[in-house]
Amino acid sequence: METLEAIKKRVSTRKFLKKQITEKDLKIILEAGTQAPIAYNKYDDLVITVVQDKETLDEIDRLCDEHYGADTMVFFNAPTLIFVSSKKAKYDQEYENVACVMENMALAATDIGVGNVYLKGMTLHIEEKTLSRLLKLPPETRAIAALGVGYPDGEFLPKEHQMKIDRI
Ligand SMILES: Cc1cc2nc3c(=O)[nH]c(=O)nc-3n(C[C@H](O)[C@H](O)[C@H](O)COP(=O)(O)O)c2cc1C
Repeated sequence: METLEAIKKRVSTRKFLKKQITEKDLKIILEAGTQAPIAYNKYDDLVITVVQDKETLDEIDRLCDEHYGADTMVFFNAPTLIFVSSKKAKYDQEYENVACVMENMALAATDIGVGNVYLKGMTLHIEEKTLSRLLKLPPETRAIAALGVGYPDGEFLPKEHQMKIDRI
């Protein structure tokens, strides 16, 4: 698939098959993530954590349900969650850095037919200390977002998005 085609086809997938993604597909997605640009070349500040362990996924789900007081399906039963975490950067670039990693992974996943969804909610609703412990993060490193990935259950068609574009 051409890059532009992957960009056009990327869509949030919110229903996944139970089947786990192959190691080959996971490797492609992770490699794309690590190729992202990072401010000041500070790659050491970032950690990518692949969560496939059922108990950990269940615990994340439970903690989110606890926050909402309802069954939320916050990660849509994606069989794999890829968390992207970072140390705080001098000029708050950790958010942009993580977003670059996330989008690279989302496009790579799209390219190989792996469904994906950008997930921020979990990192907001689970207490930072608890999530850091679950993800075994190094000190001063905080989970900022996660990509839910898995094979899509059904067809998810990309939407056309509009943004205001000015020319001066
Ligand atoms: C920073 C960020 C946070 C997001 N957080 C969530 C989330 O927590 N849960 C979710 O279902 N989708 C989340 N999304 C996905 C957006 O809702 C989605 O990309 C947007 O509605 C456009 O739809 P599309 O991805 O299908 O094109 C997030 C996207 C971004 C960029």
